[in-house]
Amino acid sequence: MQPRMAIFIDSSDPKEIEELFSWGCLSGVTTNPLIIAKEAPDADLGERIKQVLAVSWGDVSVELTTETVSEMLAEAEGYHAWDPKRIVIKVPFSETGMKVLHALAKKGVKTNVTCLMAFNQAYLAALSGATYVSIFSGRVQDMGYDVRPVIAATRDVLEREDLDSKIIVGSMRHIMDVNEALEAGAHVPTIPPAILRKMVWNPRTETTIEEFNTAWRNRGKKK
Ligand code: E4P
Repeated sequence: MQPRMAIFIDSSDPKEIEELFSWGCLSGVTTNPLIIAKEAPDADLGERIKQVLAVSWGDVSVELTTETVSEMLAEAEGYHAWDPKRIVIKVPFSETGMKVLHALAKKGVKTNVTCLMAFNQAYLAALSGATYVSIFSGRVQDMGYDVRPVIAATRDVLEREDLDSKIIVGSMRHIMDVNEALEAGAHVPTIPPAILRKMVWNPRTETTIEEFNTAWRNRGKKK
C-alpha cells in the first residue's frame, strides 16, 4: 500500500533508480519525453521502462507523445500492457488531453495529467478522474509566479469536494521547492536524483559523524 505521503523519483535511468530505491524512501517513478531524450536518446522506450519497472516498485508514469485522441489512446494501450497495475499514463493537459483522460479513467487506467501551471487546470483534471495531477513548480516560477497558492488551492478543493486525485509537484530545481511543495499541500514531490542526493547532505552532519568516529577510533589512547 502506498504511504499517505510519498516521494517519487523524476528519472528514467535504471541504474540511478535502483540505487536510490535502495534507500527505501521512494514510492514511484515519473518520466517524461524530455528526460528520456536527454538520458538515453537511442534507447527503446519499452525496454527502458521495463528496466525501470524491474528495479523499482510503485507507480511508473510514462508520457504520451502523440497528439490526436485515437493515437493517444492506442499509445496508452501499449504502455498500459507493460504492467497494468503499475504503469500510469501521463496525459499532457489540453482539450484533447481531457478527452483522452476521460476515456482512460472510464476504463480504470491510472493517469497522471501533466504540464499543469494553474489551479483551474488541476481542478478540471481532477473532476475528469485523474489519478494524479502534476503541477510544475520550476516552470511556474520561471514565469515569475508563486507556485504555493496553486498547490494549496488544489489541495483545498480536492479535500473539500472529496475528489480522489493526488497532487504530484514536479519541475523541482532546488531543495526548497520540495519543502515548499510539501508545506503547501503536495501529496507527492517528484524529485530529480541530484536534488534527492542534496537532501541527504548537510555539512554539520558530516562533521558530527567524523567527530564521533574519530573519538571512537581514538578511545583509550592517551592525549
Ligand atoms: C514531472 O513529472 C516532470 O517530469 C518534470 O518534473 C518536469 O520538470 P522540468 O520542468 O525540469 O522539465
